[in-house]
Amino acid sequence: MYISTDELRTIFLKFFENKGHKIVLSSSLVPANDSTLLFTNAGMNQFKDCFLGTENRAYTRATSVQRCVRAGGKHNDLENVGFTTRHHTFFEMLGNFSFGDYFKEDAIRYAWEFLTDVLKLPEDKLVVTIYETDDESFMLWHEKINIPVDRIVRIGDKEGGKPFESDNFWQMGDTGPCGPCTEIFYDHGDHIWGGPPGSLEEYGDRYIEIWNNVFIQFNRLADGTMEPLPKPSVDTGMGIERIASIIQGVHSNYEIDIFQALIKSAAEIIDYPELSHQSLRVVADHIRSCAFLIVDGVIPSNEGRGYVLRRIIRRAIRHGKKLGAQGSYFYKLVGPLAKIMGTAGEELNTQQAFVEKVLKIEEENFGRTLERGMAMLNDALRNLQGNVLDGETVFKLYDTFGFPSDLTNDIVRERNLAIDEVRFEAAMTKQRQRARNTGNFNTKYNSIIKIDNHSNFIGYNTTQAQGIITHIFINGLSIEMLATSDEAIITLDQTPFYAESGGQSGDAGFLILGTSKFKVINTHKFGSTIGHRGKLIEGTLSVGDNVDGQVDVERRQAITLNHSATHLLHKALRIVLGEHVQQKGSLIRAENLRFDFSNLEAVKPEELRIVEKLVNQQIRCNYDVSTQLMDIDSAKAKGAMALFGEKYDDQVRVLSMGDFSIELCGGTHADRTGDIGMLKIISEGGIAAGIRRIEAVTGQGAEDVFYRQQQAYTQKVNESQARIKALEKDIQQLKNKVAVQKSADLINQVTEINNIKVLISQLNNVDNKALRTMVDDLKNQIGYGIVFLCNVTNNKVDLIAGVTKNLTHKVKANELVNMVAQKVGGKGGGRPDMAQAGGNDITALSSALNSVTPWLTERL
Ligand code: SER
Repeated sequence: MYISTDELRTIFLKFFENKGHKIVLSSSLVPANDSTLLFTNAGMNQFKDCFLGTENRAYTRATSVQRCVRAGGKHNDLENVGFTTRHHTFFEMLGNFSFGDYFKEDAIRYAWEFLTDVLKLPEDKLVVTIYETDDESFMLWHEKINIPVDRIVRIGDKEGGKPFESDNFWQMGDTGPCGPCTEIFYDHGDHIWGGPPGSLEEYGDRYIEIWNNVFIQFNRLADGTMEPLPKPSVDTGMGIERIASIIQGVHSNYEIDIFQALIKSAAEIIDYPELSHQSLRVVADHIRSCAFLIVDGVIPSNEGRGYVLRRIIRRAIRHGKKLGAQGSYFYKLVGPLAKIMGTAGEELNTQQAFVEKVLKIEEENFGRTLERGMAMLNDALRNLQGNVLDGETVFKLYDTFGFPSDLTNDIVRERNLAIDEVRFEAAMTKQRQRARNTGNFNTKYNSIIKIDNHSNFIGYNTTQAQGIITHIFINGLSIEMLATSDEAIITLDQTPFYAESGGQSGDAGFLILGTSKFKVINTHKFGSTIGHRGKLIEGTLSVGDNVDGQVDVERRQAITLNHSATHLLHKALRIVLGEHVQQKGSLIRAENLRFDFSNLEAVKPEELRIVEKLVNQQIRCNYDVSTQLMDIDSAKAKGAMALFGEKYDDQVRVLSMGDFSIELCGGTHADRTGDIGMLKIISEGGIAAGIRRIEAVTGQGAEDVFYRQQQAYTQKVNESQARIKALEKDIQQLKNKVAVQKSADLINQVTEINNIKVLISQLNNVDNKALRTMVDDLKNQIGYGIVFLCNVTNNKVDLIAGVTKNLTHKVKANELVNMVAQKVGGKGGGRPDMAQAGGNDITALSSALNSVTPWLTERL
């Protein structure tokens, strides 16, 4: 029976759905709110809190097809990829889960039924393993399923290892849910080398593990303690690629339908004819992890998750180059991948252009240094004495050329050489801060509080309510009573305080009982319990007290408006920029909102303006903001926008603002869009390749921004005016200076009438004030005489006459000016020693001027 990989997904899910399991979508490769885990590495990750008993869901049985990455962290297969038939950086895990519902017997029965009844695998091809001491599983396999004793292998702890370090004791990470497991192996036949599990030849490829059934019974704490869990549970996982290879009658995972299609596409794109080349397998594997990591929001960088992604991309590029790939090629595989992922490719389809762009940029950047790095490495290998490449060279390749050590290791390994890891690590420690910072993903989980109460959030429509204290924690330790000044986390059975999630900040406020007052600084979720973090500022509080929860209303209101505006903004961006816009993160606080989204280019100012206008139009439409609870499928049918990879409960809240925005959301919102007041975008910028960030304010915040801007403008205008005044003054002074200089020239034009000095002159474009200065100055210079100046500016005539005081008994400046003014169509006035006038008949000016000398001659 041939079944395609895509059909297998559906057959598996349907099988378990018929057995009462809820089909749950794959979660993101970036684990939600779990700092212990680098990437989602198993189907059980998204159910971690269900196993620990800190989260209760509407179902106790679930099934999923989970995308996983095992490259970095506890489960790391990166270096094996390409060198074995069955290791991948990215794979999909079929799984069924029981949260305190069925246990070993049903888990074993279901697995067996699916393999032998549904998929019709021959029973004699299957071998099972159990944890050494797990007699119950032994009994179930042997007596209930009739597996012969010689095909049930007991596997104990590794020799020289720690307790429970065993292939048959599964642990998610250094901490967290874990337990003994029973694994099912498939015998690919004696034509392939290898032996059954537990034998010396077990590492061969003949017997391949296909299904792991874990009996989750413990929570492993950071100090190694195995804390028994209240409800034994089941976590199973079957890599779809492995089971597909069996069903499709091939031995290697790389020969299944998906990989064959990808390998063909890679061969075409690179233009390499030999389909069986190992490097094509590496490339086909790596495009899957890289593309889906980017879909789930990881961007290549120099630390943490982004660094692991960068390492995988670089490894893929190098293998492509080895096959002769010209220029950037890796990103071209995104299209073919999106096509062959079937039901698991939905998110990739919508984000194809974005993923291509991110990969292309990374490839172009790396391409530039790759050749120089390879030249250096080849040199070093040519001159190598012995067979170990020194750590300093490996570090230099890393530091200068961006060669991750596993890339160097890969190249070196192809030549049967090795690298000096110890010396390399020593060099790296010096640079640790700048390099991969996977140390961030440490074991924090158990240092936080662990409780299994459920708190009821009752704050959608109220900001004040009573609640009973269920726990008090100080530094992670549960205590009974708080004294004044204690800093603690208080959990309530029900609370109006919103706990930080979905980008929305947690509430602040007070928990009050009589005179006792606990100041809440922030509110967080611990599983499904809501914890209020803060300080007791007065009195005492004890577990069991019924406190009055009072949320800081103003702060909540501001947060709420920003949250509703974020939905409008999200939708408006999709309308203006296109459907490719995906939310990549958000931060909704009282002060402002921040929205990160995928978009290849910067948003143009005119586009931003349209977005802002569109949002404000919706605000003025004053839609009712309505919430409806429905199952996720109905929500999707309604067209609700959901965030890919987000963990949604069975029943989801669908938030609608008219027909404009319909989105899944658990946050708090305005009653009507009009409450938002208005949205003002403050900034737009890039935060990573292909990811933009908009910051905006609403309501009072927007008003404050306008007020501040107005203040700033007023201040600027005042400053400018003062400056203009100062400049005008400077100019006047300069003009006066010029005038004084001009008058120095004019002094040469002085003539005499009857031995009295007379100056008559015509000027152009001289400022009125400057004219007076000039006349004063000239009068001073001649000491005894008459000055008459006319000036033409813009077809107007200024006339000015000055007579030294000792002559005014003969000639009066005002009479002189008046005489001339009348001739040029004007009139003037002034004192006998200084008078001014204006006129506008320029054509008459020259004859008017000619009349001055005769007029003076008559009087002198
Ligand atoms: N968590 C187990 C594993 O990954 C079973 O799913 O093998």
